[in-house]
Amino acid sequence: MTSPAQSPILVLGGTGTVGSRIVSQLASQGIPTIIASRNPPSSSSPSHVNFDWDDPYTWEPIFISKSSSSEGTTTEQDQQPSRPQPTPQPIRSIYLIAPPTLTGDRPMIEFIDFARARGVHRFILQSASSVEAGGPLMGKVHAYLRELGQRGEVEWGVLRPTWFQQNLAEQSYHKESIRSESKIYSATEDGKIPWVSADDIASVAVRALTGEEAPNTEWTVLGPELLKILSEVLGRKIVHVDLTSAELEKRHTRFGMSEEYARMMSAMDTAIKFGAENRTNDMVFSVTGVAPKKFRDYAMSVKDVWETRLQEMGIEGKT
Ligand SMILES: NC(=O)c1ccc[n+]([C@@H]2O[C@H](COP(=O)([O-])OP(=O)(O)OC[C@H]3O[C@@H](n4cnc5c(N)ncnc54)[C@H](OP(=O)(O)O)[C@@H]3O)[C@@H](O)[C@H]2O)c1
Repeated sequence: MTSPAQSPILVLGGTGTVGSRIVSQLASQGIPTIIASRNPPSSSSPSHVNFDWDDPYTWEPIFISKSSSSEGTTTEQDQQPSRPQPTPQPIRSIYLIAPPTLTGDRPMIEFIDFARARGVHRFILQSASSVEAGGPLMGKVHAYLRELGQRGEVEWGVLRPTWFQQNLAEQSYHKESIRSESKIYSATEDGKIPWVSADDIASVAVRALTGEEAPNTEWTVLGPELLKILSEVLGRKIVHVDLTSAELEKRHTRFGMSEEYARMMSAMDTAIKFGAENRTNDMVFSVTGVAPKKFRDYAMSVKDVWETRLQEMGIEGKT
């Protein structure tokens, strides 16, 4: 059974980098959307629901229609308003973004079953180019969706994007070091990355969520170029600081990551060092019909966020 096309699409993590872009693309197409996260979006949205992967009490209200559950009816016999009956809210498809923990696969798989029991038939997971089906975290969720799909129990898709162009301007981890030190820290050595735009990931996701046919496979979403530095865009030298895997792990924990998560992130850098991301593909164009965004254009559009503190303090010159 498939939910009707006018039913809303649920975007878990709909306030984040990719989720918020999916939500605005759906809105611009007039497609109803429910945004789910622990904190509301910065601009007020009537379609936001409180949702926490770690608190299953927050899951059920998503599947109850807000408009009809608040109204009761009056029976002739007792002239008393009857207790309001919750009306189910059909959901057309769900976009799943994992919580930033190594044990997030458990609630995600539980939630998929919870939603299936409430009539949802299509699930699109955001995984990562570096995470294979059956691998850690989203990899287990990927394998589960594939298995359900092979049994004909769900329509599914797994997006496996590479590293986001937006990391460098929106994550304080990179933004601050570029801004105040003119440095980017990593353990990737000379390994290259086909940085992809979160806008393009969102466009691919919207196709997967709304297309008549679900992908029923994984889509590796890569950017168009293998680039490393920002110096040209910023007009000052941005230095790549080459850390060892252990040094990077320590740095991640200083930025608030758990030790296990930092170890996993650091291992991903090591894989890049050995060429894991040294590739591009035409996934964005073949799914959306639009050329993928170039990193240079993105960097030019947000370059103000990297304006150096030295300039802010009125001190001229290079670092
Ligand atoms: N950054 C990259 O380069 C990259 C590359 C490939 C894959 N990925 C994968 O992409 C995912 C992150 O996507 P993103 O960067 O678009 O997201 P993001 O900007 O990190 O935002 C995360 C979203 O999830 C919500 N969230 C976090 N913890 C939650 C919880 N316990 N319960 C409910 N909601 C929660 C957040 O809102 P609240 O905090 O308000 O709940 C927010 O809406 C990760 O799985 C990552 O591995 C990232």
